[in-house]
Amino acid sequence: MPRSGLKIEIAIRKSFRLGHAVSFEVYQLAKVIVKANENGPNLITVDGTVATALCRCGHSENKPYCDGAHRKANFRAPAAEVKITD
Ligand code: FES
Repeated sequence: MPRSGLKIEIAIRKSFRLGHAVSFEVYQLAKVIVKANENGPNLITVDGTVATALCRCGHSENKPYCDGAHRKANFRAPAAEVKITD
């Protein structure tokens, strides 16, 4: 069952230098999506790229990360998307 109300903010910092004396930094909030794969881990996607996979079966030897043990454990769970609030 998807959870709601989770808030995740990841800032991406970019630095720019103009000439010798002028530089500035831009902070941009990344778009984060959390999806629970059918029969598999929670995938954390940042700006369209899968950043990591988090175990939700409880069998990983490398928690909190998925190590593929869900396949051997025959883990079964429906796909879901975690809603992230603004
Ligand atoms: S979800 Fe992959 S090891 Fe648990």
